[in-house]
Amino acid sequence: MLRKLAISTVTAATLALSSGAALAAGAAGHVEDYAFSFEGPFGTFDQNQLQRGLQVYTQVCAACHGLRYVPIRTLSDEGGPGLSEEEVRAYIEQNFIEVYDPDLQDWRAATPNDNFPMSSLENAPDLSLMTKARAGFSGPYGLGLNPLFRGMGGPEYLASLLTHYTGSEREEFGAVLYGNETFPGGYIAMSPPLWDGAVEYNDGTEATVEQMALDVAAFLTWTAEPALMARKQMGFTAILMLGVLSVLLYLTNKRIWAPVKARAKGQQPAE
Ligand code: HEC
Repeated sequence: MLRKLAISTVTAATLALSSGAALAAGAAGHVEDYAFSFEGPFGTFDQNQLQRGLQVYTQVCAACHGLRYVPIRTLSDEGGPGLSEEEVRAYIEQNFIEVYDPDLQDWRAATPNDNFPMSSLENAPDLSLMTKARAGFSGPYGLGLNPLFRGMGGPEYLASLLTHYTGSEREEFGAVLYGNETFPGGYIAMSPPLWDGAVEYNDGTEATVEQMALDVAAFLTWTAEPALMARKQMGFTAILMLGVLSVLLYLTNKRIWAPVKARAKGQQPAE
């Protein structure tokens, strides 16, 4: 029994150590701590920013990356980019979005009920959940405060990745790798996708590389967490209700025990 316990303790300790080491290796890249509007307990998405991010994704990233877990119609959901249903249809038409239909065994124009297409480049990962799959920072360990106030850093990682190309290149097994301060290992197979003015924003915002990186990071946070705003609101309401309940329970408790206390007091002199 003791031996078993000892073994499992050692195993747990080793696991903890090695996962710590893995974390350390992952965190080696430089991640800038950008301030996003959706951070913190009351953070909300900025609708204009989501629309700009959608534009960057569509005009730049979609050439290689898919968003296959995101239904196109959710672009008109509350708390998202907030396109109208006509705008969603126009979006599909203007960008020639096509999906592969297994029934037809052919490509066809997408409808709002389809999901965004999958990645067209085999080694380009799907971006639907990317901001949840990467952590920019964690800690202070054990306190759990960072996720509450700064988030896990997924969007920060993404925005940093897009803005921290070093300009150096390297060839490895015939493939070109591009120097990047954020990507673990320092070299990534994705060529710098953004340059100043890569898109022309509909709302007239100046399209600097950083602006586009932040916008697309915000948009991809929405794709990964479409219910973020509803979740925060619900959490806040729950905490508020529990607070009220605590006060009521405290007062009820006092009230219930009041006669007993009074009796106890009254009896004291008799003893
Ligand atoms: C020319 C094709 C191409 C374009 C355009 C492109 N990417 Fe990539 N992207 C790739 C490839 C290939 C990889 C895999 C790189 C690797 O694993 O070394 C990748 C990887 C990534 C990753 C994952 C990095 C990681 O930590 O694993 C993210 C995030 C990403 N791209 C975001 C974007 C965004 C956002 C855009 C649009 C602004 C974009 N990409 C445009 C080809 C592209």
